[in-house]
Amino acid sequence: MKTSIILSLLASTFLLTAQGRRSFHEDLSSHDNFIVADGYGPDRWGCSFTNSQVHESSSGTRITIGHDSDLKPYSCGELIYRGEDMGYGVYSIDMIASNVVGHVTSFFLIANEDTEIDIELTGLNNRIGWMNIWHDQKQNPISIDLPFDTSDGWHTYSFEWRRSYVAWSVDGNVVLNRTDIPTSSPSNTNYRLAINSWTQVNPEINIDWAGQFKYPADGRVPQAQFRNIRYRP
Ligand SMILES: *[C@@H]1O[C@H](CO)[C@@H](O)[C@H](O)[C@H]1NC(C)=O
Repeated sequence: MKTSIILSLLASTFLLTAQGRRSFHEDLSSHDNFIVADGYGPDRWGCSFTNSQVHESSSGTRITIGHDSDLKPYSCGELIYRGEDMGYGVYSIDMIASNVVGHVTSFFLIANEDTEIDIELTGLNNRIGWMNIWHDQKQNPISIDLPFDTSDGWHTYSFEWRRSYVAWSVDGNVVLNRTDIPTSSPSNTNYRLAINSWTQVNPEINIDWAGQFKYPADGRVPQAQFRNIRYRP
């Protein structure tokens, strides 16, 4: 009796670990393997995630900023990968960032209240990328100068997450490798993988980082584009 309980516990632990460790590729032409966030968003942001702003197409996913939220001045979007318990490995994506001030384009791993590993591009400065580890309620962002404009065409952004380091790459070149900030172990924390695009409107928060969003007066619709999420253990 006891042995069989222990065996089945071992088996389920193994499955959990194995699930988070399988390679995958999502071209983002379909959202079948994602949860499209709808009707919420952090209080400090100027937008609420709304599924009407998330658009799939054969060339990937576009997230726009709109005005159809009941809760906030703007609507924005987020996709969360359905697979849970993401593990160590290499995560990458192609993105075209927004170049509207106050508009953030991002790709990240998140374990609630615990660790986040982020790549964030802001429309305040399209010549840098922010690489961040959020651990123990503290953010540790570092900005990296880039040899291109992040709103001008597809580029590949990735991070390699291991027990003792996180190394970020852009178009296949390592741009930062951090061993100084710990991350919570994936064996006891449920990491999820997500992309989002949101607006910073509060003049008191993150203003030097993202700038303050104002909807473009010229009628253009702010957007961020995403395709090819890849993972390998
Ligand atoms: C990051 O640094 C660690 C520790 O020096 C090293 O073992 C690892 O190979 C580096 N990773 C990359 C991708 O450069």
